[in-house]
Amino acid sequence: MTEKILVTGPFGQIGSELVPELQKRYGKENVVALGHRHIPENFQGVLEKGDVRNKEEMEGVIKKHEITQVYHLASLLSAVGEKKPHLAWDVNVNGLKTFLDLGVEHDLKMFWASSIAVFGPTSPLENTPQHTILEPVTIYGVTKVTGELMCQYYHKKYGLDVRSLRYPGLISYKEEPGGGTTDYAVEIFYKAIEEGEYTCFVKADTKLPMMFMEDAIRGTLMVMDAPEEDITVWTSYNHTALSFTVEELEEEIKKHIPDFKVGYEPDERQETADSWPDSIDDSKAREDWGWDHRYDLKKMTEVMLENLRKKLSE
Ligand code: SER
Repeated sequence: MTEKILVTGPFGQIGSELVPELQKRYGKENVVALGHRHIPENFQGVLEKGDVRNKEEMEGVIKKHEITQVYHLASLLSAVGEKKPHLAWDVNVNGLKTFLDLGVEHDLKMFWASSIAVFGPTSPLENTPQHTILEPVTIYGVTKVTGELMCQYYHKKYGLDVRSLRYPGLISYKEEPGGGTTDYAVEIFYKAIEEGEYTCFVKADTKLPMMFMEDAIRGTLMVMDAPEEDITVWTSYNHTALSFTVEELEEEIKKHIPDFKVGYEPDERQETADSWPDSIDDSKAREDWGWDHRYDLKKMTEVMLENLRKKLSE
């Protein structure tokens, strides 16, 4: 049977790189991008528009395209969530609920994006285990813990095959993130090239788990490809590649741009960053479905700078 894939949040940070990969795999005509407000002019593929909270509308899209799999990525991120907590709950939780119900009713295989934001100040800070205290202090984290428990519940209660990853901060030269706490780890590269200086909104010693986007996309497809019996975590898998402080990233960039200057002016996002782990333990993902990252800080920095230079000079 030909898979027919629906991607929500297709033009966000993850979606804009996942959609082309899915198109390569399944054929352009078999991947439906569910846009909401911002649709890139140059998008090539099957497009639908709608609101993930509207079950009727979403059901219409699923029926029209005979969808078999959904990658549900549409979500407000942590920083924007703190500015709009009610909307964050509505989109992140009720949007997911729409798809969990449709997943059961239409026998869909699903992927849903969770985050390191599920952890909070009472979670162990270093090498945070898969199963641990989850007491997040951001609305974003609250919606992600709720979502994880809902996914696990729908799996247990209805047998829904819904898989998930707790993404760390994701770094890419293709699409910029929108409204997250880890955005500095992308912004810094743009500013290094364009202006030679950057004012960072978190302190120099802020350390968070991170991953290069190519690894994140590969991991996403790996967990979806794994035989169902190999999946032992039905909330969401810890998923990481590397951890670094902003200062370490600054030093790595300076190896390529020696005059680069970074200033530090922490804002309200510092509190969120401080509530998240320095590093997380993703050995479950490595054991269950063979997760193995390819990009370390050195390689990621090289690839980011090389590709951003090309992109920004076009
Ligand atoms: N990158 C996300 C954020 O900062 C974490 O999931 O909100």
